[in-house]
Amino acid sequence: MMIQASCLQLCTLLLMAGRLQGRVTAPQHLVAPVEKPFTLTCSLSKERGESLREVRWLDVQNQTLLTYKPGNRETVSGQQHVELAPSSTKDTSAITIRRVGFRDEGCYTCIFDLHPTGLKQGSTCLTVTSQVTVDGNKTAVSGKKVSLLCSYGLPEKVRQIMWRRISAQGESTDVASFAKRSDPMIEPPYQGRFWLTPSLSDSQLTIHPVAIQDEGCYTCMYETHSDGLKTSTICLSTYVLPKPQVSYKTASPGVIEANCTSVSRPPAEIVWNVERDNRTMGPPVTKQLSQDDGTTLVISTLTVQSGLLKDVSVKCLVHHKGLESPIAVSMNTKIGTALTILISVTTVAALLVLSLCFCLWKCFLRKEAD
Ligand SMILES: *[C@@H]1O[C@H](CO)[C@@H](O)[C@H](O)[C@H]1NC(C)=O
Ligand SMILES: *[C@@H]1O[C@H](CO)[C@@H](O)[C@H](O)[C@H]1NC(C)=O
Ligand SMILES: *[C@@H]1O[C@H](CO)[C@@H](O)[C@H](O)[C@H]1NC(C)=O
Ligand SMILES: *[C@@H]1O[C@H](CO)[C@@H](O)[C@H](O)[C@H]1NC(C)=O
Repeated sequence: MMIQASCLQLCTLLLMAGRLQGRVTAPQHLVAPVEKPFTLTCSLSKERGESLREVRWLDVQNQTLLTYKPGNRETVSGQQHVELAPSSTKDTSAITIRRVGFRDEGCYTCIFDLHPTGLKQGSTCLTVTSQVTVDGNKTAVSGKKVSLLCSYGLPEKVRQIMWRRISAQGESTDVASFAKRSDPMIEPPYQGRFWLTPSLSDSQLTIHPVAIQDEGCYTCMYETHSDGLKTSTICLSTYVLPKPQVSYKTASPGVIEANCTSVSRPPAEIVWNVERDNRTMGPPVTKQLSQDDGTTLVISTLTVQSGLLKDVSVKCLVHHKGLESPIAVSMNTKIGTALTILISVTTVAALLVLSLCFCLWKCFLRKEAD
């Protein structure tokens, strides 16, 4: 163990000496996130009497990236996508790649031209990476359309994309996949309602129409050439919007029992509103019944004195996460229609009387003319 350890120390020392001999130090390996600026640095240890004439950087193709004479900013020349970093000093050279792309991956060389000793060089290698990004969890209304989107900044490195679904029970199943030079593939249980875009960067899984049982989490997996599997997860909640109804019957003389019912997912919240006032006459009784299809039936029962319905408007308000504002159902609608019928009948009768008068008057006029 001791021998091994000291050998390790020695080796490390030798390695360091080797690097120092070159007198240019640079990190051997760096990781740069795609689409962000990134700075590469080389440091020089000068000896007495040496002066630095020029610095040159070579790119991954050994082409000149940037050259300059230290202390003179006007001598900087090079490719458009790089610039001399402000952190450069007499003994350090730093260049910034303005926006790292896939093509920037590889090894860079920095060359220091020293007087009178000549060229000294160092090298640093860059790996470009990306993360899978998603726009957050989603909710979708049953029967409508929803799209789940994953993005990865380095499509050149992607071999294939796979989408997997994890149900609320924890079961995991393959949903869809897309590989280079082929068509998107949808697994049989999902065919007809699921679609996948043929892209290796922005992968969009669309569900239309959404079913209640589509609820769960969906993982997009980018299988890359060099960075392994990159994944992200989007969870989908499915909603069924309520279509509330009000029914009532006379429970005992002068007492009316009203039910406000709603079937939805997740369960709706029902409150009673009496003439824009939330006071209810006696607390309503609410029942929740889970249905087999994943929805919940909510029944709120309110008991009122029948006289009250004639005076004030009684409404049931149904609140649901999927609604911007609650749905209001009035209990007075039947009285309302009765009133409409009454008005209509009166109007028709009045018209009949009027036309009769008109006829009589015409006949009368004719007789007088005779
Ligand atoms: C660049 O030059 C180095 C040696 O200086 C060599 O090992 C490397 O393969 C060259 N790269 C390219 C892309 O020509
Ligand atoms: C998405 O939903 C899952 C499960 O409900 C939760 O664990 C996760 O934190 C949510 N993510 C975001 C970004 O809200
Ligand atoms: C209201 O709902 C209850 C069940 O909760 C039912 O027994 C009753 O008959 C319903 N009343 C009306 C008027 O629909
Ligand atoms: C009635 O309910 C609404 C929301 O449903 C609330 O904003 C308001 O404060 C309530 N009014 C009273 C008097 O409780």
